[in-house]
Amino acid sequence: MTNQGNNLDRWYDSYAQRTAGLAASEVRALFAVASRPEVVSLAGGMPFVSALPRDLVTGAMERVMRENGPVALQYGSGQGAPMLREHILEVMALEGIRGSVDDVVVTTGSQHALELVSKIFLDPGDVVLAEGPSYVTAMVVFKSFQAQVEHVATDDDGLVPAALRERIARLKADGKRIKFLYTVPTFSNPSGVTLSWERRLEVLEIARSNGILVLEDNPYGLLYFDSPPPHAMRSVEEEGVVYLGTFSKTLAPGFRVGWALAPHAIREKLILANEAAVLSPSSFTQLIISEYLSTADWRGQIDTFRNVYRERRDAMLQALGDYLPDLSWTVPHGGFYVWLKLPDNIDSKSMLPRAVKELVAYTPGTAFYANGDGRNFMRLAFCYPTPDFIREGIRRLSTVINGELELLNTFSQTSPLATIRPEHNNISPPANLG
Ligand SMILES: Cc1ncc(COP(=O)(O)O)c(C=O)c1O
Repeated sequence: MTNQGNNLDRWYDSYAQRTAGLAASEVRALFAVASRPEVVSLAGGMPFVSALPRDLVTGAMERVMRENGPVALQYGSGQGAPMLREHILEVMALEGIRGSVDDVVVTTGSQHALELVSKIFLDPGDVVLAEGPSYVTAMVVFKSFQAQVEHVATDDDGLVPAALRERIARLKADGKRIKFLYTVPTFSNPSGVTLSWERRLEVLEIARSNGILVLEDNPYGLLYFDSPPPHAMRSVEEEGVVYLGTFSKTLAPGFRVGWALAPHAIREKLILANEAAVLSPSSFTQLIISEYLSTADWRGQIDTFRNVYRERRDAMLQALGDYLPDLSWTVPHGGFYVWLKLPDNIDSKSMLPRAVKELVAYTPGTAFYANGDGRNFMRLAFCYPTPDFIREGIRRLSTVINGELELLNTFSQTSPLATIRPEHNNISPPANLG
């Protein structure tokens, strides 16, 4: 059959069916605008890498090249550099995890680990259970393997075990194959909430008794602001959990180094899938990270990041209280995100162009659901802008939300809705925003 394509893409008919899940986000173009300097972006989850002293990285890089250049510049093992895997065990021990270097597979960021786990487990039509709301780019991966994402309700303590039980029973009754439960149990992206210890045990028990693997994704666990969060789920369950970690948030995402810790049999398949995809993860960045972890005060550096993000979290919570006192939001004890609930009749996605016009950006709640839910929610990231900018961003956001409510009131046939007014009307933007 000859290829017809269409006017825009000659190869339209040739793509594999799985690419149907790879649609560009509708808000992508807006985010390009939102990256202009005059826009306060509360949208992206970019780590504040300027808090990492550059000489720590250049020093490690120079030593690696001087002492180990030919190894750093060469292909390496498909499982990852043994020395780095030793260090990764030290990092995971901080969250109560004990494992073997043999069971660690280094990947090109934890995003790539999500891809590899999906590749070895998911057939078209398989079900992946995920929190509602859940990390958007994990769902993009699951969908690219033609899996069906089914959300499980969450509250301020994370996944609700009763909802998980009920959802599994219903899916099984429908004859569905559930392959794994994907969870970000600590300082979740996007909601910022943390699964309590009791619930961790309960969720693991539910997964175990139903023969469902748990995929625990934990990029933020070491970035706590108050007391340390509960230990990782992998700390109590070895055989039923694939654990994902990353240096993206505790060091820098530019290295693109993450990892999976998996039961032996799964680990074997992950190594083969890793080799098929990239031959070996970058020797260069692995050796630099290994050198950094051997010589720098990396725990102290994580404290520095914690202090930076705590101050920004506080700025965001304070500003929300001042400018949007009638709304509700989650209170994260670590990580990068606050999840804001809007009045029921506001659609955060359709409001976004107006927000960008007012020079503030956020991520609409619908991005974090596979089923169109989340219309009246938004994710606010406090990791990147300074506290002053965060405050100004929330002030602008309150103007947009109030404007939206006024508009809805004007056109509404029913009784008018209350406009949300800041308690302190005398608050003005900080002077240094230009
Ligand atoms: C929950 C979650 N998982 C995975 C990733 C991917 O991280 P990386 O590939 O940089 O390790 C992110 C990045 O923001 C994330 O928030």
